[in-house]
Amino acid sequence: MAIQKVGVVGCGLMGSGIAQVCSQAGFSTVVREVSGELVEKGLKSIEKNLNRLVEKGTLTEAAKGEIRGRLKGTTSPEDLKDCDLIIEAIVEQLPVKRELFAALDALCPAHTIFASNTSSLTITEIAASTKRPQRFVGLHFFNPVPVMKLVEVVRTIATDPTVYEEMVAFGAKLGKTPVRANDSGGFIVNRLLVPYLLDAIRALEEGVGSVVDIDNSMKLGCGYPMGPFTLLDFVGLDTTYYISQIMFDEFKEKRFAAPPLLKRMVLAGWHGRKTGRGFYDYADPNNPKALEL
Ligand code: CAA
Ligand code: NAD
Repeated sequence: MAIQKVGVVGCGLMGSGIAQVCSQAGFSTVVREVSGELVEKGLKSIEKNLNRLVEKGTLTEAAKGEIRGRLKGTTSPEDLKDCDLIIEAIVEQLPVKRELFAALDALCPAHTIFASNTSSLTITEIAASTKRPQRFVGLHFFNPVPVMKLVEVVRTIATDPTVYEEMVAFGAKLGKTPVRANDSGGFIVNRLLVPYLLDAIRALEEGVGSVVDIDNSMKLGCGYPMGPFTLLDFVGLDTTYYISQIMFDEFKEKRFAAPPLLKRMVLAGWHGRKTGRGFYDYADPNNPKALEL
């Protein structure tokens, strides 16, 4: 069955970007948040992105109007019940995701495909909260979703091959390059990226260099678009902390363990750019001030 209507659950950093690209690709899209304020906040960030495209001349006002017309924000789970595909992008915690999917399983018709944007959780374990593990995949997007060209399409041993191919084709319809990944913690990208980011924190803890010098080293020495601390603040320190705990639990390898500094920053509420403070202080967004240890 062809995908026509897409539901996105969570309209934070990732959910807002996913909802935007689904609507831009022509799908009727409904995005659900837990409060009216969070719906508004997510839709405002989409509006800002679309306005930027109009200002640059890559999108007409009329096309923007059509994209906004296809996109609906809601707080009501009921609005997701007639979706052909639901993509979840809520907090990286297994019990919360399992509770959500168990409720969606009871709400949605049998044909609806479920996908999780989890960074590190086992898709099999999330899918086991439903009676449709054969219609369950991982669709792992990258931040910022409208810009990053990759989507990891993750299959479990239970995923129906036809559903899987449909999701690979869906990723391509969004204008992304889909890569095929099996259900191993962190899939392809985070298996490689997460130890690198955690090692940067360990290097800082050990006094190898400052936040700015480590960031500049990887930017200017290796051509990375962002240094590791800028990227950690961009991804979210809370999200990175959850990911490291999940991957450490899966592999029991030191390289995935959360450095004490990361844990303390999260406990202090320093979650990176989204809370205004992480490895940099964003009080003046045009001139972030690096943390000094
Ligand atoms: N939303 C939408 N568009 C954005 C954006 C955002 N948040 N930020 C930047 N852009 C757009 C800009 O409008 C600009 O568009 P044009 O080229 O069409 O003008 C383009 O991106 C480049 O932006 P800038 O010139 O302002 O800045 P830049 O050259 O530094 O690029 C960047 C910004 C694309 C974010 C770049 O710094 C980058 O690639 N950073 C690394 C991002 C990364 O590694 N993401 C993966 C994180 S890991 C992950 O997502 C997985 C996980 O599970 C944790
Ligand atoms: P975020 O904190 O920015 O957004 C999560 C949103 O989900 C919040 O706004 C929250 O209110 C909402 N939410 C929680 N429970 C909900 C529910 N039951 N119904 C509707 N909304 C609900 O987090 P994020 O960075 O967007 O991450 C979301 C998911 O995407 C996580 O699984 C994360 O690991 C994954 N991910 C994150 C990144 C990244 O760079 N931040 C990249 C790829 C994947």
